[in-house]
Amino acid sequence: MTQITPQPGIMDIALYQGGAAHVDGVSNVTKLSSNENPLGASPKAVEAMAQAAAKMHRYPSSDHIALRTAIAETHGLDADRIICGAGSDEIIAFLCQCYAGPGDEVLYTEHGFAMYRISALAAGATPVEVKERERVTDVDALLAGCTPQTKLVFIANPNNPTGTMISEAEVARLADGLPKGALLVLDGAYAEYVEGFDAGAKLVEARDNVVMTRTFSKIYGLGGARIGWGYGPAEIIDVLNRVRGPFNVSSTALAGAEAAVRDRDYVEACRVENAKWRGWLADQLAEAGVPSDTSCTNFILARFASQSEAEACDDFLKARGLIVRRVAGYNLPTALRITIGDETACRAVAAAVKAFKSGQGTE
Ligand SMILES: Cc1ncc(COP(=O)(O)O)c(C=O)c1O
Repeated sequence: MTQITPQPGIMDIALYQGGAAHVDGVSNVTKLSSNENPLGASPKAVEAMAQAAAKMHRYPSSDHIALRTAIAETHGLDADRIICGAGSDEIIAFLCQCYAGPGDEVLYTEHGFAMYRISALAAGATPVEVKERERVTDVDALLAGCTPQTKLVFIANPNNPTGTMISEAEVARLADGLPKGALLVLDGAYAEYVEGFDAGAKLVEARDNVVMTRTFSKIYGLGGARIGWGYGPAEIIDVLNRVRGPFNVSSTALAGAEAAVRDRDYVEACRVENAKWRGWLADQLAEAGVPSDTSCTNFILARFASQSEAEACDDFLKARGLIVRRVAGYNLPTALRITIGDETACRAVAAAVKAFKSGQGTE
């Protein structure tokens, strides 16, 4: 028996299941499994990354000042209180590493994003899952779930994979009610899909127990670049920076993100296009007998009568090259999460789901 053993908690981590990108035997697939922007990144971001690629022999900036300044100017924030990471995943990991350890509890909701549990376990902390109310974050349940051991409370607003969100007043009530010593993390990965929503930035400004995380992977179309950021009280950002690797974000990612965040017209065009096809697809699915909650994101959580029906529909779509996401791992076995693709993709999904429902999957 080897004496070399991992830290407690690590072996409790189930490997993260990413969205599938291939179907055996189908050459032309449409990937609607990872909530990516079907329109891609802003051409200005792509150009900036190409230019950065010519200078790859140089290490990237360590303080990320150009990107932090661009984010701060765009959102009206304090650049000194922004931290950039290799995706918002890395910010989530920093938070757990710095603020939760053995004996501490990390709260998230029953349909919450998988990385909250993974990062809590990686830090040796105890993940605690709290009920939602009909696929919506339940502030009362979260407050009731808090104990003196609670160190971090994660909510995504809007949430993945439900697509629902709670009001600013509810978020403020949550922040107000947390025990002293617990930090609220507002994950705003999908915030840009909600017109005029600040993702909780004002709450971060007003309080000392709230941090916001954001990503360039969704509306900005830069999932492959791995870049996200966090915003919080100065003392907390200082703590996170102590564990951050000096070169945690590549020069290409920094350059792409800076150009992307400044290209507001592109972001707005993507938001409008997404809202248009999201509404259209939700209506089409409802007509076919597949309901969904009103989505505030770039995906729809389509609900089926049973797990077997959801799985049969997934197989039916897959055979037609349409890859969506099963979400049984998110305690939603009767649902499929469908990313809003471009017009062609949305029309193909609607037609396939209709065909499935009318024939109940008989090929
Ligand atoms: C709610 C939520 N938070 C965070 C992330 C992580 O995004 P990234 O690490 O690409 O910034 C995702 C990605 O799917 C997400 O859905």
